[in-house]
Amino acid sequence: MQQPPVRKAVFPVAGLGTRFLPATKASPKEMLPVVDKPLIQYAVEEAYAAGIRHMIFVTGRSKRAIEDHFDTAYELESELEAAGKQELLALVRSVQPDDMDCAYVRQPRSLGLGHAVLCAEALVGHEPFAVLLADDLMMGPPGDTPVLAQMAQAFRQQGRSLLAVQEVPQDQVRRYGIVAGEPAGGPLLRIQRIVEKPAPENAPSRMGVAGRYILTPAIFEQIRQQPKGAGGEIQLTDAIARLMEHEAVYAYQYAGKRYDCGSKEGFLEATVELALQHPEVGASFREYLKTLSL
Ligand code: G1P
Repeated sequence: MQQPPVRKAVFPVAGLGTRFLPATKASPKEMLPVVDKPLIQYAVEEAYAAGIRHMIFVTGRSKRAIEDHFDTAYELESELEAAGKQELLALVRSVQPDDMDCAYVRQPRSLGLGHAVLCAEALVGHEPFAVLLADDLMMGPPGDTPVLAQMAQAFRQQGRSLLAVQEVPQDQVRRYGIVAGEPAGGPLLRIQRIVEKPAPENAPSRMGVAGRYILTPAIFEQIRQQPKGAGGEIQLTDAIARLMEHEAVYAYQYAGKRYDCGSKEGFLEATVELALQHPEVGASFREYLKTLSL
């Protein structure tokens, strides 16, 4: 039986972004641009492409720029209109399509990803929802279905929580939630174990969780009961491990590429690769790169 579609997405954006200081001293890390769009916009567009229209941001102090970005910019829009700059006006307005709404809730203290998701409970209500970590910039295969839309389709078939996973190098397992499971058809694995940021010798596999989740609302109760875990934080991964005692949870081996924009290297890789694909600057940027003696 087909499940109802996923309607809501949660974006935990309260993090401090210490890895990008001083850029993030007064600006949210989610507003760092890759070519010409802030990271958070890539994530919101991915949710929109998956059919989601209700965007919920779990925000914090000094994150005002995110709210402004997804709001009307009166002065800018009226100046562009007066100057007859219709293309730019359409570009500015496309950030917030008419059929999309945004809601904001504050995470008052940095108590971890699980806690951030719990802050969205009242806005999500009792229905399945997506979680997107904007640090992970996800690109579907060129011209093909974006990653969250792939997962939303799978969710409609089986109605169980899904975590995006990819194989990661052994020496990087301590950066991720790591899952081990049994093949469950196509890109799905039924998860049997999940551990947050294990040491390489304790990792049950090399399948790392990327920042895309579709979760059933039963997760909220599990987060509420969750004591602090790795790093003294309330981990979403630990709450998912508890959820597995009550219902099946699946890993989804997505098609596409992930850029870890929470790290400087990943951010630079995304910048170079997306610049090369950019319709306006791609060709000239490619020529420029060829002139570098590397
Ligand atoms: C979070 C999750 C981790 C996941 C990762 C993906 O960690 O806790 O399980 O693998 O996102 O990016 P963070 O990178 O926020 O430390």
